[in-house]
Amino acid sequence: MSRLQDRVIIVTGGAQGIGRAYCEGLVAGGASVIVADIDGKRAEALAVQLREGGAKALAVPTDVTREDATEQMARLTVERFGRIDGLINNAAMYQRPAVSRARFEEISVDEWDRVTAVNLRGTFLATKAGASSASSTSTSTWWRPARRRASRTSRRRRWGSTSRRPRPAA
Ligand SMILES: NC(=O)c1ccc[n+]([C@@H]2O[C@H](COP(=O)([O-])OP(=O)(O)OC[C@H]3O[C@@H](n4cnc5c(N)ncnc54)[C@H](O)[C@@H]3O)[C@@H](O)[C@H]2O)c1
Repeated sequence: MSRLQDRVIIVTGGAQGIGRAYCEGLVAGGASVIVADIDGKRAEALAVQLREGGAKALAVPTDVTREDATEQMARLTVERFGRIDGLINNAAMYQRPAVSRARFEEISVDEWDRVTAVNLRGTFLATKAGASSASSTSTSTWWRPARRRASRTSRRRRWGSTSRRPRPAA
């Protein structure tokens, strides 16, 4: 059985381009997919197409730069599928909408702000919303590394060092 079978996975910017390919690949592997895109019409058209092909798919119009939108994305996913197992942070200012591809020193501050709003802030907000819901709903190990890191940190704190443990007194 595919590792993706019955996993519930959100793809931001999933309506077209590489995001669309992720959605198609995920459903081919048996996952349920949430097409989260600022272009709600394209997202819905893809979700309909995937459902017609027998897949479980939901379109959620989402602007990843807005915290309320990413929280809604996570909430609607859990309402529809019961949990979140994975998130692909694909949404970006890249081709649609296009970035100027100007020389670095010619990039306007306005463009810098628009790009980082989607590519950085959007990634942070989608992950924050996804992780909040996933940590309480998913059985997937994909969300667990943070907990493992936390336990390593607490071990470090206990021993006061990353590698050396206290030696018994001579
Ligand atoms: N195409 C390439 O050659 C290439 C190369 C390297 C990396 N990438 C990366 O792959 C990813 C996808 O690239 P692509 O070429 O398919 O891009 P694309 O421009 O074709 O698609 C981006 C998608 O993100 C959506 N989107 C834009 N702003 C959004 C927002 N605020 N909230 C939600 N969705 C939003 C768009 O509607 C679109 O569906 C990007 O992260 C890009 O940086 C692409």
